[in-house]
Parts: sequence; structure tokens; C-alpha cells
Amino acid sequence: MPAMTVNERPVEFDMDPDTPLLHALRDAANLTGAKYGCGVGDCGACMVLVDGEALRSCLVTIAEAEGRYITTIEGLSRDRSHPVQQALVAEQAIQCGFCTPGIAIAAAALVRRNPDPSIEDIRQAIPNLCRCGVYPRLVEAIQRAGRVTRRRETISAAPAPGIDPADAARAVPAMRGADVEGGPPSAADQASEP
Ligand code: FES
Ligand code: FES
Repeated sequence: MPAMTVNERPVEFDMDPDTPLLHALRDAANLTGAKYGCGVGDCGACMVLVDGEALRSCLVTIAEAEGRYITTIEGLSRDRSHPVQQALVAEQAIQCGFCTPGIAIAAAALVRRNPDPSIEDIRQAIPNLCRCGVYPRLVEAIQRAGRVTRRRETISAAPAPGIDPADAARAVPAMRGADVEGGPPSAADQASEP
């Protein structure tokens, strides 16, 4: 069973090793923030951080993710307080929101390695497709997130907390925990911890 760390929790997926990470996260871990858009690597809606790098999880198998540290949009911050999340809301760079988790993940990876990105840097680092066309506001939001990251600015109105990752992970039928086979605790087990 491929084992990895998802949002700082050790998990094992009792699934075919060739299963795309996107499907394991959505269908087994109940982490539905990463979206299925195209399934072939074109849209970026499925992006998650793999060891800090924004990757299209529809193109990564769980075997390839073995031993890696995965961060989904649910784990980017517990209260949507990540500078990218704050700036996306503050700049109203969200319309239907389908592309937003993938864009937030790609932007988080960008501002972490380059907190002062140029427009061209953003174009290069955010290949994600947005059918609503939020691109101009997206540039503003990511540059603003960079300023927050550099402590040049604060955004006071954090978005209201949404679903806690522990809540999202309560139903994990394909994960096995230590109580089953001596492996690490499942997300469901951990979700019940105080
Ligand atoms: S669903 Fe993965 S790139 Fe579109
Ligand atoms: S906000 Fe609708 S697809 Fe991007």
C-alpha cells in the first residue's frame, strides 16, 4: 500500500498503485478541494504540493507519491489564512471557484520561492486554466500575496473558516490505519483525536 504524508498526516492508500493521486485524495481521503478538470494535465485544477512543488495530481500515481509530502488546498492553512488565500479573496479573483484550489496551490509554491514575482514570473508559474477569465485579478492577487509574504502589507479580513481538514477526512474507506495492519493511523482515526 503506497504510504505518504498528506496534510501532515501519515496515510496509506489500499488502492491500485497506479491510481492517480487525484483520485486517491478525492475518493479515498475525501479531500475534494483538488478538482478533476481534464484528467490529462492541461488545466491545473488538480494541483497539489508534492514536497513543496505544485504538481498536477491527475498525472501522479500514488506509487510515484510514495514517501512524499503532499499538501492539498485543505492543508494549505487550517483557517484560509495563507497570504494567497487572503489575497485571492481580497482582490475578488474568484468567480465560480472551480479553478481556484489549483491556482492557490500553484501561487503558494510561487510566492514561497519568489515573494516578489513579476507579471511574467506569474504567467510562467501559473499555467492553470480559468474558464471564467480571472487572469488580470489573479496577477494582482498573487503580487499582493507576495507583499503580504514580504511583510510589506497585511490583509486584515481573513476569510471565514471553512471545512476543517479533519472533518473532510472522516470518511476514508480506502485508507488503512495502525489498528488494522500495524501501519500509521488513518486520517479518519486522527480526525477523531481531540
Ligand atoms: S485535472 Fe489534472 S491537469 Fe486537469
Ligand atoms: S473562477 Fe471559474 S474557472 Fe476560474
